[in-house]
Amino acid sequence: MLANKKILICVTGGIAVYKAVALVSKLSQAGADVKVVMTKSAMEFVTPLTFQAMSRNDVYFDTFDEKDSRVIAHIDLADWADLVIVAPATANVIGKVANGISDDMVTTVLLATTAEVWFAPAMNVNMYEKRSVIRNIDTLAKDGYRFIEPSEGFLACGYVGKGRLEEPEKIVKLVQENFVPKNLPLTGKKVVITAGPTRERIDPVRYVSNFSSGKMGYAMAEAATKLGAKTILVSGPVSLNPPSGVQVIHVESAAEMFEAVSRNYDDAEIVIKAAAVADYRPAEIHPQKIKKSDSDSVINLERTTDILKTLGERKQQQILVGFAAETENVIENGMGKLERKNLDFIIINDVTDPDGGFGNDTNVVTLLSKNGTNKLYPAMPKNDLATLLLEAIIEEVKVGNSHDR
Ligand SMILES: Cc1cc2nc3c(=O)[nH]c(=O)nc-3n(C[C@H](O)[C@H](O)[C@H](O)COP(=O)(O)O)c2cc1C
Repeated sequence: MLANKKILICVTGGIAVYKAVALVSKLSQAGADVKVVMTKSAMEFVTPLTFQAMSRNDVYFDTFDEKDSRVIAHIDLADWADLVIVAPATANVIGKVANGISDDMVTTVLLATTAEVWFAPAMNVNMYEKRSVIRNIDTLAKDGYRFIEPSEGFLACGYVGKGRLEEPEKIVKLVQENFVPKNLPLTGKKVVITAGPTRERIDPVRYVSNFSSGKMGYAMAEAATKLGAKTILVSGPVSLNPPSGVQVIHVESAAEMFEAVSRNYDDAEIVIKAAAVADYRPAEIHPQKIKKSDSDSVINLERTTDILKTLGERKQQQILVGFAAETENVIENGMGKLERKNLDFIIINDVTDPDGGFGNDTNVVTLLSKNGTNKLYPAMPKNDLATLLLEAIIEEVKVGNSHDR
């Protein structure tokens, strides 16, 4: 979610510097390009090398160490940043910035930048409540600086009170929220997506499943999130990393998937069932491993709940999208399934096409709507396809809205 975002972390000399290390690490993991500037005091707590390793970038601490003769380092850094966070922010740096002082690399960059600057203060509770500190914070807040309030609790100095640096996870969340574009087509909408196969247990070591890789569902989840959705991905067992910003619910069986989707169905705006749910499960799960014998064996199978059909029956405001794998009469068979299951859209994989289907990174699909529109999408990467499909669905629903919905 933070890909291509340039974040400058100014680290000043408080005991909470160790948390700034975690902050830099988490921001980098979230895809941001992170650079660090330190005060001399901060370097008493943690060396620049730690931040260099975490950010994979040079660390800056000396205003007069001009490594690149083509630029002036503090101006270059100040201009580079999309967002500057001072974490931890000492009482000292807050006072200096409130008074326009720039006597080291951190304060000089802070004076030179036109990017948004956030302060995450951390200090002893008596320092935090000192009138001069309160005055300086007020001054900065009035000047448009944003503050991430410290939390209350045990302080390293032995006091209990307000002054703990906000947890790095919370700061990362604020940064992510800050960069979410506000007017995307799915902003504020809850989208539930299922992906992958299900596993139906035979005994503790064996199961019935299928070859679904989950790639198409994961691509849909990533695309929905990029279009602004609050995405919930209900995933069967797959070996894929969840896209960032997506809430993943891991399930194993069709029954667990049904339960997880049902729990998230009522307030969902769009529900996309891309999972390959087992149609049958062993009628009996053996509590012990079934012993090998010389004779043949029969496993009785029973039907699992038809999740898509059940969701179709319970449908209210939800836009319900199903997937189908067909080998012949793609349009007729797809339309039949769409009607039987009360879907709004169905995405049909022609699994006979060598560029489509399970495990491939590309797919070839036809999108059918209940209004009778149909569009064939030629072979393309599943990620690109997912975005095009979602955009087409949003567009058609929007048109429907203005007419007869
Ligand atoms: C062990 C230790 C912990 C400190 N923790 C803090 C702190 O949490 N917050 C703070 O404002 N100052 C703290 N200080 C004091 C600052 O390091 C000191 O005011 C310093 O001048 C700040 O410099 P800087 O703002 O340039 O980094 C601490 C000092 C020491 C020795």
